[in-house]
Amino acid sequence: MGNSGNLRLSRVLLGVTAGIAAYKAAELSRLLIKQGHQVQVVMTPGAKNFVHELTFQSITGSQVRHMLFDPAHEAAMGHIELARWAEFVLIAPASADFIAKLYAGMADTLLHTLCLAVQAPIAIAPAMNRNMWANPAVQHNIMGLQQRGMTIWGPAVGDQACGDVGPGRMLEPLELSQRLKDYCHSSTGGSFIGRKVLVTAGPTYEPLDPVRFIGNRSSGKMGFAIAQALSDEGADTVLIAGPVNLMTPQGCQRINVQTARQMYDAVMEHIQDIDVFIGCAAVADYRPEMMLANKIKKGDAEMQITLVKNPDILQSVAALPKRPFCVGFAAETENLEEYAKAKLRAKNIDMIAANQVGEDQGFESDENALLVFWLEGEKQLSKQTKSTLAKQLVELVSEQLNKD
Ligand SMILES: Cc1cc2nc3c(=O)[nH]c(=O)nc-3n(C[C@H](O)[C@H](O)[C@H](O)COP(=O)(O)O)c2cc1C
Repeated sequence: MGNSGNLRLSRVLLGVTAGIAAYKAAELSRLLIKQGHQVQVVMTPGAKNFVHELTFQSITGSQVRHMLFDPAHEAAMGHIELARWAEFVLIAPASADFIAKLYAGMADTLLHTLCLAVQAPIAIAPAMNRNMWANPAVQHNIMGLQQRGMTIWGPAVGDQACGDVGPGRMLEPLELSQRLKDYCHSSTGGSFIGRKVLVTAGPTYEPLDPVRFIGNRSSGKMGFAIAQALSDEGADTVLIAGPVNLMTPQGCQRINVQTARQMYDAVMEHIQDIDVFIGCAAVADYRPEMMLANKIKKGDAEMQITLVKNPDILQSVAALPKRPFCVGFAAETENLEEYAKAKLRAKNIDMIAANQVGEDQGFESDENALLVFWLEGEKQLSKQTKSTLAKQLVELVSEQLNKD
């Protein structure tokens, strides 16, 4: 399996046939890779007239296959090996000709042969002129494939390359990649399908002057792991991140901010329709009263900086009239349980995950342990990697959410 987290259908065979929309399959292959799949492209011989195999090879990093009678690959029955490898087959674009031969059970190209040999699910994204699509022969073939359990994605209605307008366009690559993602989640039973979540992560930097700031040691790793775990469970995930040097979790919309007030504004801008809010960022409680326009010069032996309070993001979200399920984090160096329970009550939130900050645990570390409290219960999540911990926390949130 690749690095797709819970997208358990990792190995995708992308079949490309000879239609104008073949050029869009290049973008589709890129999106599938970005989504965490391993992608192997197989083209019909005709498809090579529309897009060069080098394009796919460069994007996927794998040699494109198109020849059935390929002495190099067939020494070890390459077509059967490929059929066994695939966990999902997506034909995009699927030409009328390809669909007809698939329905007839023909096997005169590598792609057709694979479709007969494969045990994985097959989805077809038809793309053709609207009159071709409306032709009873094409409709008959499509319905037949559907009856055999194949999934038909599209076509879309709109402008066509030939100048016509109507049904027949291939669904856009983004739409197809989203369909595959939804398919993966529904087949693996993602517990956050249809839910919108917002996660904050990382530190905030509160500027003193153009070169200095007051920050903290949060690495953002826990919040990023939570965003990934939620996305893997099918959540529509927005991640608002302070200044950290981390890859955006797959499938998440990321918004970068620097200061607590920017984070507050970004959260408030995106909080509408959010079902779950997880405030994992280490937001500065205070900021310098003002940021000086020029670098502060060394002067007296002492210097005073006046700090003023930042808005409390978690409390503000929890106080909204139509508020989401709210989860807070408490990083403490002492009296963990007492402080965490007090924060749960004071901020009127639904759940709090408390972690003891110490050596090899908490900030900057790859591992952590959490003590999670909600109104009627608590659970100790023992020390482990932040990604495993995130999955367990997400499971707890899901349990509590589904109680309501
Ligand atoms: C310029 C051009 C564009 C074509 N576009 C399409 C198309 O969008 N959809 C389609 O079903 N056939 C289209 N065709 C016809 C197919 O390329 C043809 O039926 C071919 O045999 C399909 O081969 P394949 O299914 O093995 O890839 C087009 C043909 C040409 C010459």
